[in-house]
Amino acid sequence: MSTAPVELSVRDFSTDAAYSRHLDESDPLANCREAFELPRDASGRAVTYLVGNSLGPMPRATRTLLQAELDAWGGMASEGRFRGAWPWYKHHEWFREPLGRLVGAKPTEVVAMNGLSVNLHLMLASFWRPQGKRVRILMEAGAFPSDTYAIESHVRVRGLDPAQVVVQVKPGEGQACFETADFTKAIEREGDALALVLVGGVNYFTGQVLDMQAITTAAHKAGAMCGFDLAHAVGNVPLSLHDWNCDFACWCSYKYLNAGPGSVAGCFVHERHANDLERPRFARWWGNDPVERLRMLDEFVPVAGADGWQLTNPPILSAAPLRASLELFDRVGLAALRRKSLALSAYMEFMLRHTAPKACTVITPAATHERGCQLSIRIPGDARGVVKALHERGFWCDFREPDVVRASPAPLFNRFAEAHAFAHALGEILTG
Ligand SMILES: Cc1ncc(COP(=O)(O)O)c(C=O)c1O
Repeated sequence: MSTAPVELSVRDFSTDAAYSRHLDESDPLANCREAFELPRDASGRAVTYLVGNSLGPMPRATRTLLQAELDAWGGMASEGRFRGAWPWYKHHEWFREPLGRLVGAKPTEVVAMNGLSVNLHLMLASFWRPQGKRVRILMEAGAFPSDTYAIESHVRVRGLDPAQVVVQVKPGEGQACFETADFTKAIEREGDALALVLVGGVNYFTGQVLDMQAITTAAHKAGAMCGFDLAHAVGNVPLSLHDWNCDFACWCSYKYLNAGPGSVAGCFVHERHANDLERPRFARWWGNDPVERLRMLDEFVPVAGADGWQLTNPPILSAAPLRASLELFDRVGLAALRRKSLALSAYMEFMLRHTAPKACTVITPAATHERGCQLSIRIPGDARGVVKALHERGFWCDFREPDVVRASPAPLFNRFAEAHAFAHALGEILTG
């Protein structure tokens, strides 16, 4: 993978609470936390929020941006489409540059539209083009189940049998995580039977970052297309979708991008496809050239770029919050966020080894290029009960069946002192 591994030495970490405060005091990103409204529990107590991998907290600027859209709607109604600070007709265009920077794409290769699942269906319609023997779709075992539903539904829509079409790559015996070779060898085995590879770039369960470049290269060598579900990757780890040559990718904006529940999602289509107007797709008028669109021509002529996959006019009230978040990402820069993120999760893991050495195991890979913010902590016994006990103490993390606690310290708003306190709370719960 072209992301250079950053090896962090944990030798210098100390278990003292004072040391965690020292890390916070010397953290150049410490004041980013002020840009957020952080949640409180039902009794009004501030909490340690470690579920930004599920739903990011609200940037303060969101209220102002949303209020401005409500004012525009109230004050201009239909004219808001073409006048005001953010005319709605072109609203999605604002996202091209910042999203392109986040995912390593040209501005014309990305579009903010729909929800992740809708975009995934659109991409499957365009990029799974079974022909003759070349039919199969390769995915990872343990993918986010909804990806499996989406893939299998496309197979069934075409009257085919998922058992014959969908190939699931498993990690090695007894392993929670994958080796890149698990994918490349499976892809090679499928060879000319393979039409599409579709995997989660960062696994939702283990937090493992896959080598997207190597998987894409292997898929292309076999003559197949390759796409990624980046729900847990965008805003979390560095991405170079254009240079890695990925065919397409989809992501949501409510996790690390902090754009709010159900906010507008994103989609990448590599320019070699994005500019291919012949590529089949599900068409609606928002995929037309915006200059021609309102002429209401009979024929659908897609605009070049990822915009050509749009269906419908942008959902302004679920898109405006994304501007608040992307402005933050642009101000701070992903490189600085990544540095802090790696340090935060390494520190949290270091502390867990101190507070609960035998009672839990971090299954997220140790190598920095294979992890993002999330630590997946395997807790034999009652992991669900542990999450409940943590919650009662003001630490919000989540549980995934059968035995994993996911805790995701996010560099924009979490502190080293929170990682320290979390490890102590978990240690106390586990060791009584
Ligand atoms: C890997 C992955 N894909 C997709 C989704 C959600 O898709 P949608 O935003 O369309 O509901 C999630 C949500 O947690 C996810 O983890």
